[in-house]
Amino acid sequence: MHPARWARLARRPSHRYDAAAMAARGFRPLAFARVPEDQMRERARSFLAMIRPRRSVRDFSPEPIPLDVVRRCIEAACQAPSGAHKQPWTFALVTDPALKRRIRLAAEEEERRTYGERMSEEWRRALEPLGTTWEKPFLETVPALIVLLRRDWEIAPDGSRRKNYYVQESCGIALGFLIAALHNAGLATLTHTPSPMGFLARILERPANEKAFMLLPVGYPAAGAQVPDLTRRPLGESLVEYAADPTEPSP
Ligand SMILES: Cc1cc2nc3c(=O)[nH]c(=O)nc-3n(C[C@H](O)[C@H](O)[C@H](O)COP(=O)(O)O)c2cc1C
Repeated sequence: MHPARWARLARRPSHRYDAAAMAARGFRPLAFARVPEDQMRERARSFLAMIRPRRSVRDFSPEPIPLDVVRRCIEAACQAPSGAHKQPWTFALVTDPALKRRIRLAAEEEERRTYGERMSEEWRRALEPLGTTWEKPFLETVPALIVLLRRDWEIAPDGSRRKNYYVQESCGIALGFLIAALHNAGLATLTHTPSPMGFLARILERPANEKAFMLLPVGYPAAGAQVPDLTRRPLGESLVEYAADPTEPSP
């Protein structure tokens, strides 16, 4: 279709919606600002440039971080879509040194067993380039830990259980938003899964419907922090396209 026709189509109000009837059903008009294509390209480019240097950090500075920034990033994570809009998550922000110590000790206890007995040879080989061990001193050094807890069900006011849907997918998306928001704000993170993670809900005394999904240390990297020299797959190995129009430029 000719671009001018697309533009006319974009401006034409949709007649599929009767605004009053929709409002009566609890709908409201979508707030969506169209962005000119050149600005879209610039935004996509600058988002990639912002996110590209993100790395998992395992050596943190003990310096304090602005917690209002962290709270704002958690609020950004809470804008994620979720199955049936159940928002099946709780973000626990832990800065209390005594709690961080308990979490470190419990994580190391599990990780000592995982690295010592539970890990398969294949898993061990996969981790080798990362140089990780059972020791997790950063859990204590780092100024903040965010524990993302998944809620498989909610407790209704009458005490009955209300099921949530696509809980893992929803929490994964919210976590992605959170990591991007924290990195964008200038903070480093690690997606940490000391396995099994049951100790986190116990230490934090969370209700029975909450299970730890991810442990995310948040802070500044220690001076001179090192990361494994990893490369990303070229886009062509991650993206497959099924376009009818072969004239569209490919990546
Ligand atoms: C679901 C998930 C679980 C992870 N668990 C751990 C972990 O327990 N410990 C750790 O050091 N890194 C963990 N990582 C971090 C990965 O090792 C890291 O993302 C990967 O090596 C790529 O490095 P990068 O994040 O610096 O790009 C985890 C990452 C993901 C996505």
